[in-house]
Amino acid sequence: MRFNLAVLPGDGIGPEIIAETVKVLDAIGKRFGHNFNYNYGLVGGVAIEQEGTALSTDTLRMCKCSDAVLMGAVGDPKYDDPQAPIHPEDGLLALRKELGLFANLRPVKVYPVLIDNTNFKPEVIKGVDFIFVRELTGGLYFARPKRQWRTTRGRRATDSMTYSEQEIERIVRVGFEIARTRKKKLISVDKANVLQSSRLWRQVAIEVSGDYPDIELEHMLVDACAMRIIQNPRYLDVLVTENTFGDILTDEASMLGGSLGMLASASLTGVPQEGGRTLGMYEPSHGSAPRRARLDMANPIATIASMAMMLSYSLGLTREAKAVEKAIEKVLEEGYRTYDIMGEDKTKVGTKKMGDLIADRAGG
Ligand code: IPM
Ligand code: MG
Repeated sequence: MRFNLAVLPGDGIGPEIIAETVKVLDAIGKRFGHNFNYNYGLVGGVAIEQEGTALSTDTLRMCKCSDAVLMGAVGDPKYDDPQAPIHPEDGLLALRKELGLFANLRPVKVYPVLIDNTNFKPEVIKGVDFIFVRELTGGLYFARPKRQWRTTRGRRATDSMTYSEQEIERIVRVGFEIARTRKKKLISVDKANVLQSSRLWRQVAIEVSGDYPDIELEHMLVDACAMRIIQNPRYLDVLVTENTFGDILTDEASMLGGSLGMLASASLTGVPQEGGRTLGMYEPSHGSAPRRARLDMANPIATIASMAMMLSYSLGLTREAKAVEKAIEKVLEEGYRTYDIMGEDKTKVGTKKMGDLIADRAGG
């Protein structure tokens, strides 16, 4: 089959990890007889530099017309100045909003061969396998107003956490649907003891649960959830939460797997279905790591694993997705490691070599 993909490498290590991901995708195309057509575009700091905006309307249009979007990372210390009028991250947020990617899935998986590379006791993390369903187009990130101003008594700033019941309902439904395909248990994470937006979140979750009598719904406060992630992560299966809580908790949870460089991410416009054709954007959960850029160091696995999710959810290619996942496992089992997951007696490789190895194993 033929597929049109929008590819946005972005900033920092983005171009390097995307190059390896495309390499693996080409190997899959060759093996299974698919033709992946790549349309490259700019997003983030590179787009600000070359096009004067973090996301141009042309790039956005190209993404809308594609079967899926593959993204590297955005962010550049050049724009760290809080007074800067535009930030690379604005491009990413615009993509999420404009494409309607409200459902962000981040599976937390512990590869058995990496257990010794983590900071955790094997008995705590062995068999950990849960998934975050993070709301991605609301909350603090898209607050209105979102600004800083001066008053006679000093500076003030605001971003408010606002959610409509429709926004909550659709993301909670994604959580229930995914729970149905797993252990039939959904944890809704909120801060309902303090926040009004969380009280509405909890009410809506309870209302939606009426449509899912087969799923057990548990509410967990976000602070308790942060604790549970490292205290007893095996307890967790499917978690649904608002944007900022999800951002923070997923970075924390990535440590269970040994590195943020291993955490995949899929952002979708609806309920994911294996073998489905839902429009989505696929990017690693990590940022642009500017200090690692152009050193052939970065771990491309999170991006490659995100691409596997793309094969499954946006291109309807389940077998192909499994082949990529298997290839990642195989290369790790063979002892190859990038710097972030390096362990005793392992073979240290750079970004390119890691991509070559995975492409080779994925190519069959
Ligand atoms: C993520 C990242 C982004 C976010 C940044 C780069 C804007 O941290 O995808 O988790 O905060 O959503
Ligand atoms: Mg984050």
